[in-house]
Amino acid sequence: KGDPRLEAISRAIRVVPHFPKPGIMFQDITTLLLDHKAFKDTVEIFVDRYRDMDISVVAGVEARGFMFGPSIALAIGAKFVPLRKPRKLPGEVISEEYVLEYGVDCLQMHVGAVQPGERAIVIDDLVATGGTLSAAIKLLERAGAEVVECGCVIGLPETKGQCRLNGKPLYILVGPR
Ligand code: PRP
Repeated sequence: KGDPRLEAISRAIRVVPHFPKPGIMFQDITTLLLDHKAFKDTVEIFVDRYRDMDISVVAGVEARGFMFGPSIALAIGAKFVPLRKPRKLPGEVISEEYVLEYGVDCLQMHVGAVQPGERAIVIDDLVATGGTLSAAIKLLERAGAEVVECGCVIGLPETKGQCRLNGKPLYILVGPR
């Protein structure tokens, strides 16, 4: 608290009540992307944090991790690795299933995208249960990478400092609106 950039980032996120279903307060980052200053500050805060951490892999979670991850990767001199929903990646993949409120989903990563020993961060727009990030961490670790941290624009304060199951640090810019 106190960083005016974070307050502006929070204000730029739109809440859409009852989307995609009743009771959900959807945190819409498309309005953040429309605000050049807030979008730039968001990327810069992550870049300032990760530039001197010897990170060679920025993994982004489909779909909204793709909107922040590549800019961070370019600025810190890392590669960008997309973690995608099933049947989107054309090459050989490894898969991790994770539990949703109703049913299961899955993330996939290309074999060979990451080399053993590489230092990685995972970027997404939002962490709720942590199930998605947990699957992302497992994919990277199965490929031999070291996951240094997960970075999200939005998260609950109580999720800070822990990703479900994996105990990796979690860096969050703002709380839900
Ligand atoms: C949202 C969000 C995160 C995930 C967080 O994605 O962008 O990736 O949920 O939830 P969790 O912490 O409980 O796992 P969503 O599943 O809606 O997919 P999409 O971005 O492809 O629409």
